[in-house]
Amino acid sequence: TNVSIIGVPLKYGADRMGVEMGPDAIRSSHVHQRLEALGYQTQDIGDIPVSLQKTDTCQAGEKLKYLQEISSVNKQLCHLVADAMGQGQFPLVLGGDHSIAIGTIKGVLQHVSRLGVIWFDAHTDVNTAETTYSGNIHGMSLAVALGYGHPDLISIGGIDKKLRPENVVIIGARSIDPGERPFLKDKGIRVFTMHDIDRYGMKQVMEEALQIVTACTDGVHLSLDLDVMDPAEAPGVGTPVNGGLSYRESHLAMEMLYERGVLVSAEVVEVNPMFDLQNKTARAAVELIGSVFGERIL
Ligand code: ARG
Ligand code: MN
Ligand code: MN
Ligand code: MN
Repeated sequence: TNVSIIGVPLKYGADRMGVEMGPDAIRSSHVHQRLEALGYQTQDIGDIPVSLQKTDTCQAGEKLKYLQEISSVNKQLCHLVADAMGQGQFPLVLGGDHSIAIGTIKGVLQHVSRLGVIWFDAHTDVNTAETTYSGNIHGMSLAVALGYGHPDLISIGGIDKKLRPENVVIIGARSIDPGERPFLKDKGIRVFTMHDIDRYGMKQVMEEALQIVTACTDGVHLSLDLDVMDPAEAPGVGTPVNGGLSYRESHLAMEMLYERGVLVSAEVVEVNPMFDLQNKTARAAVELIGSVFGERIL
């Protein structure tokens, strides 16, 4: 396999600055060397240019912050991901805030229309303009990938390219907005909360989750929001929530995902070195990427 690394230093989908340094923090934690050591050939295509001026394009009565910048970056990302896959490469997208899942998933959908998604997150990111409190698009990206949201976003890569809710699972959720609950329920999206992980263990949760995302699909995308981990393990995220995955639970999940051999693409998002003087979160991210690509203890 050849892996194409794509950096997306986007911050406009989140409230706190610093997440734009995520791609470089992950690179400097030697993601490239880690993959080469596993026998992959990697190619780093660099960062998608993101304009530096954070000009709020919010019109009166409009609730989505920085819609224009976010949709333009995601359009480019969609093309780059689709191109990489067209060349037979595995896209590994480094964020940036979680709004970049829009471009990644839309790009993957160009090649794999029956796509499963395994979404690791403290949050569920299924807000829409009607339900969001924050106006932050990183809290909406999964809804957009399912076909719900602003026309400028759901049209990226073609409005007909979208996920089916029965092919999506969310793992590790512990902060779900009131408006997101009916969405998850009505669409029938399976959410494995931290409660489920406490109760049944990561092994059983992953077995069920993998069953769901592989049942009627031709490939699976991994969307890994580092805030799924406990803030003790991964303090460098913009929206930390207590009570997350332990280091070992996170690795078990990634190792089981690798064993299944179904992944076609992955993204690692929300790493914010500004809140993490030791760069612990980026290092954890690279260690998890190692497990995703087949690293074993023995
Ligand atoms: N639910 C909150 C919101 O919509 C938080 C979302 C956090 N999302 C993330 N990708 N970290 O603003
Ligand atoms: Mn937010
Ligand atoms: Mn997220
Ligand atoms: Mn999150």
